[in-house]
Amino acid sequence: MDIVICKWGFLFLLCCALIFTVGFSVEGLHGNARVRGVNLGGWLVIEGWIKPSLFDDIPNGDMLDGTEVQFKSVTLQKYVSADNGGGGTVSVDRDIPMSWETFRQLWRVSESIFQFRTTGGQFLTCDGDGNNVTAAAQSPPSATETFYVERNYDNRVHVKLKTGTYLQASKANQLTADYLGMPGWDDNAATFELIIVSNNLHGDYQLANGYGHDKAQEVLKKHRDSFITIEDFNFLYRHGINTVRIPVGWWIASDPNPPPPFIGGSLEALDNAFSWAQTFSIKCIIDLHAAPGSQNGMEHSASRDGTTGWPTSPDYISQTLNVIDFLASRYTSHPSLLGIELLNEPSAALVPLDILVSFYKQGYQIVRKYSSTAYVIFCQRIGNADPFELYQANIGPVNTVIDLHYYNLFDTFFVNMSSVDNIQFIYKSRQTQLQALNGANGPLVFIGEWVNEWNVTSGSQIDYQDFGRAQLEVYNAASFGWTYWTLKNDRKHWDFEWNIRNNYLPLQLGKLSLGLFLKGHRILGFEHS
Ligand SMILES: *[C@@H]1O[C@H](CO)[C@@H](O)[C@H](O)[C@H]1NC(C)=O
Repeated sequence: MDIVICKWGFLFLLCCALIFTVGFSVEGLHGNARVRGVNLGGWLVIEGWIKPSLFDDIPNGDMLDGTEVQFKSVTLQKYVSADNGGGGTVSVDRDIPMSWETFRQLWRVSESIFQFRTTGGQFLTCDGDGNNVTAAAQSPPSATETFYVERNYDNRVHVKLKTGTYLQASKANQLTADYLGMPGWDDNAATFELIIVSNNLHGDYQLANGYGHDKAQEVLKKHRDSFITIEDFNFLYRHGINTVRIPVGWWIASDPNPPPPFIGGSLEALDNAFSWAQTFSIKCIIDLHAAPGSQNGMEHSASRDGTTGWPTSPDYISQTLNVIDFLASRYTSHPSLLGIELLNEPSAALVPLDILVSFYKQGYQIVRKYSSTAYVIFCQRIGNADPFELYQANIGPVNTVIDLHYYNLFDTFFVNMSSVDNIQFIYKSRQTQLQALNGANGPLVFIGEWVNEWNVTSGSQIDYQDFGRAQLEVYNAASFGWTYWTLKNDRKHWDFEWNIRNNYLPLQLGKLSLGLFLKGHRILGFEHS
């Protein structure tokens, strides 16, 4: 038996040596030259859609930070409007609600106390009893921008000042703090219909601010301790996965007491991940998924209200570099670290390329202060941007990687595509781009996010297998490798473990027995260092 394994192993080694001499390889990986990985999404950076139940117990849970609302006076049958989108007067005179009539975004102080931000970024404000409400206040809001909301079961609301005086829609179509007494829920001038236009943001900010510190700490501790465990690393190891990409939020650098409302404890969880990874010879990529101020306005960057403040503030950018410094100083000496990704999915529309490249260059130098070999990973901008822009930017000379996210989703382009169309797109468009970038002089190519899901609604198991096989075939050629999004997910097709257990993703990675056999034998050319 031993002899058979030995011969087999020797043959395998020969093949690998051949592959090594002709192909790319990633330094530090055993037995498998490139990253074959999975993301640990929704663990240390919360995304409500990945695990909706995390938000179940928040009172007034449809009025979290970033919710978009409208108010309609029940007596006038008109909508409250911030004239010109904000900055001046407020009227109650619109029949049809459009952008000026939508308060995006809600800032939540508590379950019944809120501030309302207009399209233009100003806040509703009222100087006290008898005064009109205007939309003239700049950020950050203070006491005069803070309103107390009472909500009835049928989505009727009353809004009052701290003094107790209720707002009403005046006959002159203004919003004034002068309703006399205590309104009932009948049709009166202080009663408004509340329309929730959207409440799409369910990130760390919404969760922590929604529950309040103590309850949020309890909910997050439980989640961080149970969502991903050493058993998952065992599962990954048994299926040939050699790397995990771990999204983290900027507040991890000030653990255990991050700025409110963020909750400490994610650092300990990351430490655990590194030690579990080491147990199973899995490598870790730390991915700064959420930067201060938010680099894309989405929940997965922990945006408070859907805005993207990161690129507009040098403070946010230098704070982000400090986070990279913290992560590099703590983890580059760990044997399980493969690389650090400086910033996930900056918005192409809102993060200018020159600001991003300058940040990437500084981040590269910071990681190099601590390690001459750790991979430094630069994510492409999302939206309308060509990843080639980062190849032309000369960010750094050694062990650099560009991360591309390939989804056949999130764009009307993919709507109504058949399963065959989807597969052809992988070969025609993705493969072509990947080959061009593989051939470009510069960073390695990494498909840091992809998923075996599409807009096809009636896909059979065989359709999914075909789609998954095509994606694996094409992404396997990426010079750095790939990581699937994501390990666990409430939506089963996004859930890597579900895909494997139910045979929807035909993963054929280097078999475990060989990896095991080779582990512990130090073979030149096999384990670079
Ligand atoms: C998709 O197909 C439906 C039904 O044929 C059609 O109404 C819709 O406009 C199509 N959408 C796109 C984005 O092509």
